[in-house]
Order: sequence, then structure tokens, then C-alpha cells
Amino acid sequence: MKVMILSPALISGATSDVKLMEQKWPFKGIFGRFDESSLQRGFQVYREVCAACHGIRHISYRDLKGIGYTNDEIKVIAGDYEVVDGPNDEGEMFDREALPSDKFVGPYENDKIARLANNGAYPPDLSLIVKARANGADYLYSLLNGYKDYPENFEASEGMYYNEFYPGYQIAMPSPLMDDIVEYSDGTEATQEQVAKDVTSFLAWTAEPELEERKSLGVKTLFFLILLTIMLLGVKRKIWKDVE
Ligand code: HEC
Repeated sequence: MKVMILSPALISGATSDVKLMEQKWPFKGIFGRFDESSLQRGFQVYREVCAACHGIRHISYRDLKGIGYTNDEIKVIAGDYEVVDGPNDEGEMFDREALPSDKFVGPYENDKIARLANNGAYPPDLSLIVKARANGADYLYSLLNGYKDYPENFEASEGMYYNEFYPGYQIAMPSPLMDDIVEYSDGTEATQEQVAKDVTSFLAWTAEPELEERKSLGVKTLFFLILLTIMLLGVKRKIWKDVE
């Protein structure tokens, strides 16, 4: 199934046929698991780089427990954001610090402001983007590493950037990554590829935080069914053993 209808360039009929940079993701396959330290590094990349333009509104601060943050750490993280609440008893809206139960606050007050700040293009919410694109993780990784100079003879549009993997090859997002764009506290070297990998893993998690539960339930069910089959075979043999 192709789930690429969300891309405006695709609707206009353009596609990119460049082969994706396929990666070995630890969360793929039936025994797939997220790598928690990669998720935490990816969250750092999201927060320090992508969050300037993109929200992750389906995730609340307390969801970060799922990638290993403690309640106290989450309170501190939430406290960095301001949300509009209200109305209060005087009928007025007011700003307050975000609480762990709030959803992530996005960078822009509304869609119009978001477009004004980005040359008319809308930076989509990233919480579900990995699911909204075919081969989402490989696509996102490739997109982040796919910026090139404009080839000769390509008619470049103003304020657009050339990206091999974006349908139509021109994207309004400037290349967001480079080597050492963040400094990792766990000593991992922040090469562009590493940073792209970590933020992709993080966004695979935001798209499906319940992935590990789903897979472990699947594996348990499978073992149960195998066991049941063996038992039933035994019962059948026993019942039929005296019949010629
Ligand atoms: C300076 C603002 C800015 C930053 C920073 C930024 N983006 Fe974007 N991004 C955009 C804009 C604008 C678009 C819409 C592009 C278009 O429509 O041509 C976009 C589009 C995207 C898309 C959608 C691509 C598609 O297939 O439709 C993804 C995925 C994405 N960004 C991921 C990221 C990630 C991950 C980061 C952080 C590493 C990031 N962006 C940082 C502005 C930004």
C-alpha cells in the first residue's frame, strides 16, 4: 500500500525514483525493539533542531517516560514550554508553564504564521510522519541526508532546496542537519548520519509508542498457538490410537 497521498508534489504527479538509503533499524522485524539511548539522543535532536519549525502534537510530555525519562526530568522538560490556558474567572486566556500532562507545544501560534515563516510552505507535524510516508524510517533518513547542489539545467525555484528524495526534488525545508549540530552527553559522535539516525528513531517512536507492546504480544500469541498445536496433535494421536 502506498501512503504517499499527503505529499503535495505527488498529487501534482512528480515522484522521486531514487533508491532510498536503507538502514538496519533495530525496531524492525517481529522481535524489533527500540534502542532507548538512540531515542533519547533523537529527542535531543528534535528539541534542539526540528522543534524550531515542527511540532509533535500527538505526544504529551509524560509520554517521554516510555523512552526512559523520570517524572522529575519530565517536569523540567515541560517547564521549558508555555501553553495558553483558560479562560480564567475574569474570562481571559492566560499563559502558564506546561505540565507533564500537556501535549507538546508547537513552534507557531497558527498555520498562517507557520507559512509566513517558511516561504509559504507548511512544516507538517512530525508525530505521525514516519507512518504517513511509504518506508517512513528509510525515507526520513534519506531525506535528511539527501540535500545536494542543484544539478545543471534544473530550473531552481526561489527559496527552495534540491533534495534527491523529495518528490519533485525541490523542498522548502533547508537542510536541517550537519556534523556536530548537537553535542551528545553520552559521548556518541554527532556525525550527520548518526544524528539523522537518532532523530528518525525518535520519530518512529512518536508514530508508534506502543510498538514494543504490540510485538511482544504478537510473539507471545505465536508461542501460545505453537504450544496449542502440539497439545492438540498429542490429543488427536491418543484418541485415534486404537483405530486402524
Ligand atoms: C527552518 C525550519 C525547519 C527546520 C529547522 C526543520 N524543518 Fe522540516 N520542514 C520545514 C518545511 C517548511 C517543510 C515543508 C517543505 C515543503 O513543503 O516543501 C518541512 C518538511 C519536513 C518533512 C516532510 C517531508 C515530506 O515528505 O513531506 C519532514 C519529514 C521534515 N520536515 C523533517 C524534519 C526534521 C526531522 C527536522 C529536524 C532534524 C526538520 N524537519 C527541521 C521546515 C523545517
